[in-house]
Amino acid sequence: MRELLEKIAAEGEVLPGGVLKVDRFLNHQVDPQLMKRIGEEFAVWFRSERPTKVLTLESSGISPALMAAYELGIPLVVARKRRPLTMTDDVYRAQVHSFTKQETNEIIVSRSLLGSGDRVLIIDDFLANGQAALGMVEIVEQAGADMIGIGIVIEKAFQDGGRLLRSRGFRVVSLARIASLDGGAIQFADEVMI
Ligand code: G4P
Ligand code: NA
Ligand code: NA
Repeated sequence: MRELLEKIAAEGEVLPGGVLKVDRFLNHQVDPQLMKRIGEEFAVWFRSERPTKVLTLESSGISPALMAAYELGIPLVVARKRRPLTMTDDVYRAQVHSFTKQETNEIIVSRSLLGSGDRVLIIDDFLANGQAALGMVEIVEQAGADMIGIGIVIEKAFQDGGRLLRSRGFRVVSLARIASLDGGAIQFADEVMI
C-alpha cells in the first residue's frame, strides 16, 4: 500500500534490536486518514470472505482494526490483556508469549462475543514472531468460529511470524512488509504478500 510505505519511510524510526518506531502515525499518535485508507484496503482484500467479526488485541491493533470493521460493516472485538472489572461472564483465554518483551500474558475474550456462527478476520498493527496472532487464532478455535484471514499493517518479514502463520494455512495479508532494518535503514520487501 503505497501511502503506508511512504509514511513509514518518512516518519518511521529504527531503534536498536530491529524495532521500528511508528509513534507518529500508528502506535502513539494516530493518523485517522491513513487508518481509514488501511481499513478500506483490508475490506477490499477480505470482503468476499463474508467476515462477521473483526478481532484484534489491545491496544495498538485497535486503530486499524476499527476502520476495517467500519468499512466491512461488522463489529470489532478487542481481546483484552487484563480482565476488566465489567467482564464478569465466561471467557476464552490464550497465552501469548512476547519474545520482544520476554513475558507471557493471558489474552481474554468474553464467550458471549464470539461463537460457532462467526467468521473472523484478525487484524493487528505488527507481525513479528506471530505469537499475538496465534493467541487470537486459539481463541477463534475455542469459539468454534471460522478463521477467514489475518490482516497486518506492518509485517517484519525478517522475523518468523509470517512463515509460521502461512504454513498453518492462514491467509495473511500484510500492507507493508519490511525485509530488513539492518544498520538503521528501512528496506521494504514486495508490497503485499498473501
Ligand atoms: P509477536 O506478537 O508477533 O510474537 O511479536 P512480539 O512478541 O515480538 O511483540 C510484542 C509487542 O511488540 C506487540 O505489541 C507487537 O505489536 C510489538 N512489536 C513487535 N515488533 C515491533 C516493532 O518493530 N515496532 C513496534 N512499534 N512494535 C513492535 P504489544 O505488546 O501487543 O503492545 P501494544 O502496542 O499493542 O499495546
Ligand atoms: Na499489537
Ligand atoms: Na504494538
